[in-house]
Amino acid sequence: MKFTVDMLETEARMAELIPTETLKYVGFEDGMIFCDIGAGSGIFSFPAAEISSNTVYALELNDDLIGFMDKKKSELGLDHMQIKKVNSENLPVNDDSCDVVMMTAVLHGIKRKVDLIKEIKRVLRSQGKLVIVEFHKKDQVAGPPLEYRMSPLEVKDIIEKCDFELEKERVLGENNYLLSFKVKS
Ligand SMILES: C[S@@+](CC[C@H](N)C(=O)[O-])C[C@H]1O[C@@H](n2cnc3c(N)ncnc32)[C@H](O)[C@@H]1O
Repeated sequence: MKFTVDMLETEARMAELIPTETLKYVGFEDGMIFCDIGAGSGIFSFPAAEISSNTVYALELNDDLIGFMDKKKSELGLDHMQIKKVNSENLPVNDDSCDVVMMTAVLHGIKRKVDLIKEIKRVLRSQGKLVIVEFHKKDQVAGPPLEYRMSPLEVKDIIEKCDFELEKERVLGENNYLLSFKVKS
C-alpha cells in the first residue's frame, strides 16, 4: 500500500498518537538521537527534531514522502534531521548511536522482522529504547486487515527473543497501542 500525507496526518490519528507527548512519555529529551524507521510524513520525526538538537534520522522508502519531509525540513530549518531512503533491513546509521528507535505502524508489514530487530539492536546505545506502536488486533476500519495485525503478545514475543525487555506499555486509544523496550542488561 502506498501511503500519502493525507492518510497519515488525519486529525483523528494525530489526536490519538499525540507525537510530542508520546515522545516525552518514552523518555525522549534534548541531546538524544532519534531514529524513525518507516517515518512516513514524519509525524514523530519532526516533533523529535523540535525536542532534540541532536541527530534525528527519518528513514523511509516512499519517494513522495521523502520529498515531503525534505521540503518541510528546509522550511523549518531543521538541519539536524537526516532524511534517508531505506528499503531493506540495513539501516544507514552507526553502531551504538541511537537513544530511541521508533516504528509506528510499521513492524506488522516487515517481512524479515527478526533481521530488522537485530539491526536495531546494532544501532541502539546500551541504554537505548525501542518503541513500537501498532494497531490493536481487531477488525477495524482504520489500519491493515486483521490477518496482518499483531497483538502486544506477538510483538513482545519477537522482540524479547532478540534480547530486549519490556519497559512500558500503554493503550494510545481506540486504534493503537505502544510498547517500549530496552536492551537486556
Ligand atoms: C503506516 S505507514 C506509517 C508512517 C509513520 N510511521 C506514521 O506513523 O505516520 C508505514 C510506513 O513505513 C514505510 N515502510 C515500510 N517498510 C519500510 C522499510 N523496510 N523501510 C523504511 N520504510 C518502510 C512505508 O513506506 C510507510 O510510509
